[in-house]
Amino acid sequence: MPATLADMVRRLDQARVTQTREEGEESGTVPVGHYTDHQHWQQEQAALFGQWPIVAAHSSEVPIGSALPFDSLGVPIVLTRAADGRVRAFLNVCRHRGMALVAGSGPEPAKAKPCKALVCPYHAWTYELDGRLRHRLHAETFDGIEPATLNLVELPCDEASGLVLVKRSPGAAFSAEAFLQGLGAHLDWMGLARMTVFRKVDKVYDANWKLTVDAFLEGYHIRVLHRDTIYPFFADAYTVNLHAGPHQDSLVARRTAFEAFEPPQDREALCKLATPTQLVFPNTFLIWHPDYVSLIGMFSPAPDQVRWVHTMLIPPDRTGDDWTPHWEKTFQLIEQNVFQQEDIATAVAIHRGLSSGANTHFHLGRLEHEVLRFHRNIDDALGGRLGPA
Ligand code: FES
Ligand SMILES: [Fe+2]
Repeated sequence: MPATLADMVRRLDQARVTQTREEGEESGTVPVGHYTDHQHWQQEQAALFGQWPIVAAHSSEVPIGSALPFDSLGVPIVLTRAADGRVRAFLNVCRHRGMALVAGSGPEPAKAKPCKALVCPYHAWTYELDGRLRHRLHAETFDGIEPATLNLVELPCDEASGLVLVKRSPGAAFSAEAFLQGLGAHLDWMGLARMTVFRKVDKVYDANWKLTVDAFLEGYHIRVLHRDTIYPFFADAYTVNLHAGPHQDSLVARRTAFEAFEPPQDREALCKLATPTQLVFPNTFLIWHPDYVSLIGMFSPAPDQVRWVHTMLIPPDRTGDDWTPHWEKTFQLIEQNVFQQEDIATAVAIHRGLSSGANTHFHLGRLEHEVLRFHRNIDDALGGRLGPA
């Protein structure tokens, strides 16, 4: 176990023994306008979603010889993995007359298509999975165009710890490993890269994206909002946190930690004591349930909308038909009964009241300090004081 994670476990044990909750140093406020103001949203689009590496997929979603459309960032993107094993990202736009090469939005969440090349459905211009133009139908009819200038437009993309990250504009390469900072070692110990997709939902709700992020950064609400669903399994607001650059990692204590505390030797043992929850700044969560992990992207198509992309990742040794009913049932409990009907429904209800004028600011107590930290990081990113490097 990485030393930083071991330290979190030690602090969890200390909180249990002393019955003392870790708190922030001070309470604070967040302006309601940050959830509603169109100009603020445009700044987020430019400075956050337009410049930071954003988690686009789990590594297992893009096998060798496949293409996965990804359009949650407002521009059509396609991820590919060629025979060299490297994952790449391109604008999903044909260099002939702009057709999407791989169909993006549909009623079902995007899935990788097995393919040897990308063939445009309009006139069959064909590209290698590494983006090079391979073939044009009746190529001789295009005068004076150098084919090498017609490769797909590549986007910065890299992979680490089981996550594929992409930037939505062309530019310099980045290192996903460096970007994740200390979080990567935690995700590696948890075995994120070995997990495999069981189910994915992709839905849009009427709430600012940060309202759903806020909901996963504090355990203060679990006792009340989740009283009849998951609170029976959780201790009341005992959470320890770690900061890895702008990213945040938490152990949200479960009741079992207060019954019998054994230093955990593996992921399953740790997940019995607490629910590890990581925010990959700015908009991606990993939530480690007792036997699987939720990868959740919270995207921002409009100031008053969140696009919720929840990918359920299960251990690779539990994928047979025998396991399906178990995974279906547990996914139903978490995605529908807890996330949709409680956390997301709350974000939507809050959003409806934002413009009423009842609040100019929201008040966050010392048990909600991670929410404050998230908003301060956003302020810093928009103000140019915090960058992804
Ligand atoms: S638009 Fe793609 S081949 Fe014509
Ligand atoms: Fe919640």
